[in-house]
Order: sequence, then C-alpha cells, then structure tokens
Amino acid sequence: MAPFIRIENVTRRFGDVVAVDDLSLDIEKAELFCLLGASGCGKTTLLRMLAGFETVDSGRIEIDGIDMASVPAAARPVNIMFQNYALFPHMSVANNIAYGLRRARMAESEIRTRVEELLRLVRLTGMDDRRPHQLSGGQRQRVALARALARRPKLLLLDEPLAALDKKLREDTQFELVDIQEKLETTFIVVTHDQEEAMTLASRIGVMDAGKLVQVDSPRQLYDRPGNRFIADFLGSVSFLDGIVTGAKDGLLEIDAKIPVLALDPGGFSVGQPVSLAIRPEKINLSRSRGKAANNIPISIVDMAFTGVASNYRVSGPNGIMLKTTQPNQRGEDAPMEWEEQGFASFDPADVVLLQD
Ligand SMILES: Nc1ncnc2c1ncn2[C@@H]1O[C@H](COP(=O)(O)OP(=O)(O)O)[C@@H](O)[C@H]1O
Ligand SMILES: [Mg+2]
Repeated sequence: MAPFIRIENVTRRFGDVVAVDDLSLDIEKAELFCLLGASGCGKTTLLRMLAGFETVDSGRIEIDGIDMASVPAAARPVNIMFQNYALFPHMSVANNIAYGLRRARMAESEIRTRVEELLRLVRLTGMDDRRPHQLSGGQRQRVALARALARRPKLLLLDEPLAALDKKLREDTQFELVDIQEKLETTFIVVTHDQEEAMTLASRIGVMDAGKLVQVDSPRQLYDRPGNRFIADFLGSVSFLDGIVTGAKDGLLEIDAKIPVLALDPGGFSVGQPVSLAIRPEKINLSRSRGKAANNIPISIVDMAFTGVASNYRVSGPNGIMLKTTQPNQRGEDAPMEWEEQGFASFDPADVVLLQD
C-alpha cells in the first residue's frame, strides 16, 4: 500500500540557499512523525510546502494518493499550526475554535456540537466563554490545537507547537499531545529543534541538517545506533574516541583508541581500518576499584556537576583521553566519587557504537 504522505526528491531554493535539498520521505497514516533539526535547517520550509504555502522547485509531494502539484492550500486535507499560534484576543475560546468552521459555512448547530467535542478533547470543557487572556499558557496552547483540528484535517502540521511553554509545562503538554493524536488517529508532523521533545513525542524521527534528512528512525534506534557522528552528537551527550581496528575475534573487535577498547562487532569493519567510537555517558560506570566489565580504564575525576537525579562527570584516562559519564544518585551506593579522586571507568563492549565517519 502507498504511504499516506510521499515526499519525493523535493528541493526548495531561496537565492543561493538550498532550504530543502532533494529530500525524500514517506509517512504512514496515523503516524506521529517528528522533524528534528537545528534552526535554519529547512523544517518550516518543508511544512509550508506540504501545506501548499510554498512552491516546490523540483520533486513531488503526494498526500493520500493525490499529487499535490496542482492542489491549492485551501483544498488540501491539511492544516498547519504555526510557531506563534496567536489566538484572536477579542474572541471567546468557543469562537476562536469555531472560526474556521464559520468561514466554511458550517451550520451553527453543527458548530456547537463540534466545539463541545473539541473542548472535551483538549480538556477545556466549560471554558467556552473565556477570553485568551483569562487562560494559562498551556490552556491557550490547547485552544490553538483545538482550532487547528476543528475542520478535521487528515494531516496536521505543528511547527514548534510547544516552544512558548516553559520546561515543566512543556513536558506535561507533550504527553497530552501524544494522547490526543492517538485518540484521533490523525497524522501529525511535529517540527522541533528540541531532541528530548522529539524523542518523547514521536514514533519516528527524521533528523535534518542543511536541508537534508540525515537519518530517519525510531527514537531508540537513533539514540542507541546513530548512523554517524553528527547524529550521535546531536541526540544527547556522547564521548568520541578515534582509533584503529587491530583485531577481531569471538564477535568482538579490538581497537586501539589510545586506550585498548573491546567493542561488539557490528560487521563491516576490518583490521587496520580507522574508526570513531561513541559511548553514551550513562553506559559508563565509575568505581574506586576495578570492575568486571571487559573495558576498564584507570581514570581521575576532572569535573563533576550535581544535577539532582544524577551527577555528570568528566574524567581523564591514559594518553589524554577524556570521557563524559553520568552516575545516578541512588541510595545505598558508595559515596559518590569526588574531584581529583582516582578510580576506574568501565563499559560493556555492546555499548560502544562504531561509526565510519
Ligand atoms: N522566504 C524566504 N526567503 C529567503 N530565505 C528563506 C525564506 N524562508 C526560509 N529561508 C531560508 O531557508 C533556510 C531554511 O529556513 P527554515 O525552513 O525556516 O528553517 P527552520 O524552520 O528549520 O529553522 C534558512 O536559511 C532560511 O533563512
Ligand atoms: Mg522554523
């Protein structure tokens, strides 16, 4: 079966800037897909092309089996919730939500039913008559979402939908957004530059850089098996080591990375080949005595920062290597290691990600 959205070799230029560069992507019906990338990488331009607000220089976009080339924005089964989703300040919540329905000349009785339904969906029942200034930031965000959903688009595009909310509220709202999307089974494409947000929301994430899709995968796959150094660095914290493969046996690679490292052999590497190693901070354990793990590096603590749930360390090892590690603050453990103390950093061969570039 054809995917719900098919983006094929789409390019959009502004003068010398290639905002979206020969990008291809399929998205399934009822998926919550996230486009993740730094500011200026082309996320908004791609959304605007899907909505029909931006021309496509080359390539094609298909939605629900129909080529969008000659379909104007108003006729597409698509709505877009912009980054600054300003509500109409002089209108009540109900009238804000009903705005697009009135313009589409829906009967008033139907509008009333639809608005009630949407208020229930975004948990604002009874707030019909409030004005936007009488709502909290999170409630305003939910009204904007209800307004964007009012005409039941098959595809909703959300451009940095939670950017206006502070961190704590944003986290709660992320879960709500996922719940609403699951209930409606509407296809959502959410744009964000916040990797934690993308990982919380999406079933799949497309990471963009300079107009191109670098990797499309599930959050876990992207985090645990990044395809290259850019992705590993962009999603979360990581330590890199550069080395050369010196041996292979029993499903393990021996690597000389200024320190000897054993890594699970993912295949495709040969002896003598240069390789980058990426290790996540939570996969490295610190202890005062040498542990049982296959990789055990003598270290001393260079930096530590207490963050509440965990402490972040920078440790130095032989030959000037540096590693970042995160240790959970649990009860009943040994006292946490302190500044300038000596010990061991240990990690499992399965937690060493090998990258070719
Ligand atoms: N209308 C426009 N005219 C000229 N340049 C634009 C226009 N829209 C976007 N760009 C440029 O295209 C690139 C991608 O922009 P945008 O899609 O807004 O990125 P993002 O949403 O990822 O921050 C940027 O370099 C931006 O300056
Ligand atoms: Mg943008």
